[in-house]
Amino acid sequence: MKTILITGGAGFIGSHVVRRFVRNHPDTRIVNLDALTYAGNLENLVDVQDAPNYHFAKVDIRDAAAIEACFAQYQPDAIIHLAAESHVDRSITDPMAFVETNVNGTVNLLNAAKALWADQMEGKRFYHISTDEVFGALGAEGFFTEETAYSPNSPYSASKASSDHFVRAYHETYGLPVVISNCSNNYGPNHFPEKLIPLMIHNILEGKPLPIYGDGKYTRDWLYVEDHAAAIETVFLKGQNGETYCIGGWNEWQNIDLVRLLCDLMDARLEKPVGTSQGLITFVKDRPGHDLRYAIDATKIHRELGWKPAETFETGLAKTIDWYLANAAWLKSVTSGTYQAYYDAQYASA
Ligand code: NAD
Ligand code: TYD
Repeated sequence: MKTILITGGAGFIGSHVVRRFVRNHPDTRIVNLDALTYAGNLENLVDVQDAPNYHFAKVDIRDAAAIEACFAQYQPDAIIHLAAESHVDRSITDPMAFVETNVNGTVNLLNAAKALWADQMEGKRFYHISTDEVFGALGAEGFFTEETAYSPNSPYSASKASSDHFVRAYHETYGLPVVISNCSNNYGPNHFPEKLIPLMIHNILEGKPLPIYGDGKYTRDWLYVEDHAAAIETVFLKGQNGETYCIGGWNEWQNIDLVRLLCDLMDARLEKPVGTSQGLITFVKDRPGHDLRYAIDATKIHRELGWKPAETFETGLAKTIDWYLANAAWLKSVTSGTYQAYYDAQYASA
C-alpha cells in the first residue's frame, strides 16, 4: 500500500486536503502529521477520522529526531507539506517562530525524505505548498506568474520564500523529486478567525467592531479552499518534478468592498436591517509593511494540468457563511482559551 504523509493536516487548508485524499484514494494510506498548535484542530477531521486509510501522528516538524522516527514508522512514498506558521500579523510580533517552523521545519522534512529515498527516488514526490506572498506586492496593474522574482516583505513571506528556495535547492543539488505551488488567499470552512474573512464573520456575530487596516484599499485574490485542495491533488498527480505552479481564483477584492459585501450577506442571513453590520466597520492602524495587492495569473496550471476553480465567489462565500452559522460550537471552541489574549494584544492599540 502506498503512503502519503500530509503535514499540517489539522489546519485550515490541510484538513480539506486530508479529507480529499482520504476519500479519493481509499487504497492509499494517508498520514496526517501535525503538532496541533493553536491553529491545528482535529475536530476539523471528525468525518474522516475513522476511515481505515487515515492515520494521525502528533509530530513537531522542528524536531528532526521525531520526524525521522515517524518516517521510519510509516515509510512515506510522498510528502505534501502544508505545516507552517501562517499568519502575517503573528510573524510581525514573533518572527523567530516562523524561522523555526517554516524554514528549519521544512529543511528537517527535506533531510528525512532525502535519507529515506536515498536508494530510490523514482516514483517519490516532495510537494511543498507555498504562497503568492513570496513575490511581494503588486501595484495597480499586473499579475504574479511562475516567472515573477521573489521579493518577500513580511517575516511570514520571507520564511516561506526561504523554504521554497531550500526545496528547489534539494532538487538541484540532491535530485530530490520536488514540486512547489504558490497560491493566493484561501477562504472557506474551518478557517481560523484571526484571518480577515472568518474574523469579520465572528465579530459580526458578536456585534464587535470590524477592524479594517489602513484605508481598506489593499487587494487580495480569493480562492475557495476546496478549489485549492483540488488544485493540490492535480499538481500532486500530474505536476512535473522541479516545476512550480501558481494557483489563484481570478477573484480580486479590495478589503473594504469585501467586508461590506460580507456585512450585507450576514445581515440577510441574520434577518437584520441592511446596514446593521456595516455600522461596525472601524478603520484601525495599518499593518507595518502591508502589501498593496496580490493577484495570480493561473494560466500555467490551467493550460498544462487542466485545473480551474469550480466555485464563484458568490457560491463560495455563501457556503462559507452558512458553514460558520451551522458550526457555532467550532467557532466557540477555537475562540476560547488563548484566542482572546491574542485578539486583545493585536487590536489593543488599533
Ligand atoms: P493554518 O495555520 O490554518 O494551519 C497550519 C497547520 O500546521 C496547523 O494544523 C498547525 O498545527 C500545523 N503546524 C504549525 N506548526 C507546526 C509544527 N512546528 N510542526 C507540525 N505542525 C505544525 O495554515 P493554513 O492557512 O491551512 O496554511 C497551510 C499552508 O498553506 C501553509 O504552508 C501556508 O503557508 C500555505 N498557504 C496558505 C494560504 C492561506 O490563504 N491560508 C494561501 C497560500 C498558501
Ligand atoms: P489576512 O487574512 O491576514 O491574509 P494576508 O495578510 O495573508 O493576505 O489579511 C487579508 C487582508 O485583510 C490584508 O490586506 C490585511 C487585511 N486585514 C484587515 O484589514 N483587518 C484585519 O483584522 C485582518 C486580520 C486583516
